[in-house]
Amino acid sequence: MNFYTLKWQDGTVLMMDQRKLPTQEIYNTYTRIEEVAEAIKTMVVRGAPAIGVAGAFGMALAAQNSQAGSLETFRQEMDQAADLLISQRPTAVNLPWAVRRVQNLLNQNNSLEVLKENILSEALNIFEEDVAMCEAMGKHGAQLIEEGKTYLTHCNAGALATAGQGTALSVFYEAAKEGKKFSVIASETRPFLQGARLTAWELEKNGIDVTLITDNMVAHLMKLGKIHGVVTGSDRIAANGDVANKIGTYGAALLAKAHKIPFYVVAPYSTVDFETPNGEAIPIEERPREEVIQFFGTASAPESIRVLNPAFDVTPAELIKAIVTERGIVHAPYKINLAQQLK
Ligand code: MRU
Repeated sequence: MNFYTLKWQDGTVLMMDQRKLPTQEIYNTYTRIEEVAEAIKTMVVRGAPAIGVAGAFGMALAAQNSQAGSLETFRQEMDQAADLLISQRPTAVNLPWAVRRVQNLLNQNNSLEVLKENILSEALNIFEEDVAMCEAMGKHGAQLIEEGKTYLTHCNAGALATAGQGTALSVFYEAAKEGKKFSVIASETRPFLQGARLTAWELEKNGIDVTLITDNMVAHLMKLGKIHGVVTGSDRIAANGDVANKIGTYGAALLAKAHKIPFYVVAPYSTVDFETPNGEAIPIEERPREEVIQFFGTASAPESIRVLNPAFDVTPAELIKAIVTERGIVHAPYKINLAQQLK
């Protein structure tokens, strides 16, 4: 990858400000957990695995900055830090998954100093593991990519959404490395334009043949036979295989079914939530109305109009041809096969 999304450097967190893409590549430096929480909420960093890693780094900053003189006070501070981070975005399970993983270290009977060191190394482990998982998912998923075909992807499930080379987009990067010739269609992803601003930017930057469309062009292009498969990421996969992902994914999956086109989901095991039985139990984030009534600061609707802005939707398991994780390709019945693969 010829850029990075986030990293830990000399006791600080560096994150590319994704709100500024595609026109500016700017890195912000964060030294306090409150700043990281705000960056997650305002989408400086976004994408399920990336906000998980950012959450883990936020915990490491909180630990590093703590002035607590006793283990008890330190644990209280860290519990508050975890709550703050997790409350920023409700749908992607990777955020609580990573934060809880760091928080669990507080149960160890160690000195404050050792605990702080362990917290940082766990956050760094989460980062490194994400990099490795991305590559593994890409290698497994590349088998699904066929020579000469065109694949639709929605939102951004690429390097910008992870610490590594992405989930869905990693499949394209690995297929290209294998020498396969194929092309990608990125849907722009209203209202935040992750497809246009981020996916189009990173695929083009990395030499993948990509064409941008608006979201409402998908049905037409499928009917014309110009899309041969759909590959997306996920923010949370319920135990039964229902998949939450960026708003618009469900529509693309229904259209894929209507046109007999395979719909694939690519996500690491940190996205699978066995405690959520099905899609109905997945909390869907509602984002600010400004995202819908303004187009980059310029009014695009009456100021007083009533607005809905759900940021995610749920694609039922029966519409999904396969789920690719870092361990391989899983087919239905997902309830059994996801659990089996985890073992
Ligand atoms: O609101 P966002 O930009 O955080 O939504 C991101 C997505 O929906 C991605 O498709 C998902 O997180 C998978 S990222 C590897």
